Amino acid sequence: MSQVPTGETIERAVRLAGRAPSLHNSQPWHWVFDGTVLRLHSDRTRLLPSTDTSGRQLLISCGVALGHLRAALAAAGWRAQVAYFPNPTQRDHLATVRFLPAHIVTDADRDRAAAIERRRTDRLPFETPVGWQDFETVLRTVVDPDDAVLTVLPDTARAALAHASLITASLRRYDAAYQAELQWWAGHSHAAEGIPASALISREERERVSVGRTLPTVSGDSRRTEVADDRSSILVLSTTADTPEELVRCGEALSTVLLECTAAGYATCPLTNMTELPHGRAIVRDLVGGRVVPQVLVRAGTRPDTAPPPAATPRRPLPDILEIIEPEQLR
Ligand SMILES: Cc1cc2nc3c(=O)[nH]c(=O)nc-3n(C[C@H](O)[C@H](O)[C@H](O)COP(=O)(O)O)c2cc1C
Repeated sequence: MSQVPTGETIERAVRLAGRAPSLHNSQPWHWVFDGTVLRLHSDRTRLLPSTDTSGRQLLISCGVALGHLRAALAAAGWRAQVAYFPNPTQRDHLATVRFLPAHIVTDADRDRAAAIERRRTDRLPFETPVGWQDFETVLRTVVDPDDAVLTVLPDTARAALAHASLITASLRRYDAAYQAELQWWAGHSHAAEGIPASALISREERERVSVGRTLPTVSGDSRRTEVADDRSSILVLSTTADTPEELVRCGEALSTVLLECTAAGYATCPLTNMTELPHGRAIVRDLVGGRVVPQVLVRAGTRPDTAPPPAATPRRPLPDILEIIEPEQLR
């Protein structure tokens, strides 16, 4: 059996990897397939320097795409063997993926890959997630502790998180560079990147979600009015430090959390507003016990039966994110 998937399988897996969430839908990834290995590079032209000053979220976003790629390959009968930062002189070369045929494809593999296209960032309020205790037990077994530390915060943490969200938004209120970046990336309707207006919420809706980033608001009839206040479970993914490899792997853990939640029928919203500035990050760090470095939070909950999920957000076309090097170019 061939040890390399067909070009068609690679294209499908990279297209699904491209459905990964990323900071403000910036999609900062670039893949190169040479017929033998697949390389993941970060695209630093897509860094948001005023929001993501150190490039931490760029690496997390690329890690989510890598996690989605693993899920897509698993459903196609391949295991990905990943070498992180294989070239110390090229820091934008985040990973090289080699392939091993998998002996079996399980229903869980298929469910996780199918969740890629169904997952959305949902910024509206959620009901208390039904059946959460059992789900959390399972989730703890599927997040690799070498990738990230998973903490599920108690409901009593919500007030401190609301405070972290508020103080961060207040500190950024007059940060012209941050605000300009936000306005540029949020509210487009005809672009292949950024957060479209359909994914934003109104001022009234935001009042029902105390933990979240203050994004530009939209007008219109209030949605999900049956949920008076967000009752989501809030998860945190942390690492021991901010090293590049830990950040990419934290992104992979985020991919796992989001896809498992989606497969189980929960709605999700990743959040990093509380970990971007030292003040908010210290609040979250205290909540997770003080020994680890919080990277990203996730709101997870139940969408009311009658509430439609948000529309899919756009993505850059495949040729923009995947470069295929023909064998003769390698000679
Ligand atoms: C690292 C990272 C940070 C994010 N931070 C936030 C955030 O603070 N607030 C928010 O509403 N969405 C956040 N998102 C969600 C993105 O805005 C979203 O993934 C993107 O707009 C694409 O939409 P989709 O997830 O529905 O495909 C984040 C996503 C990632 C991967």
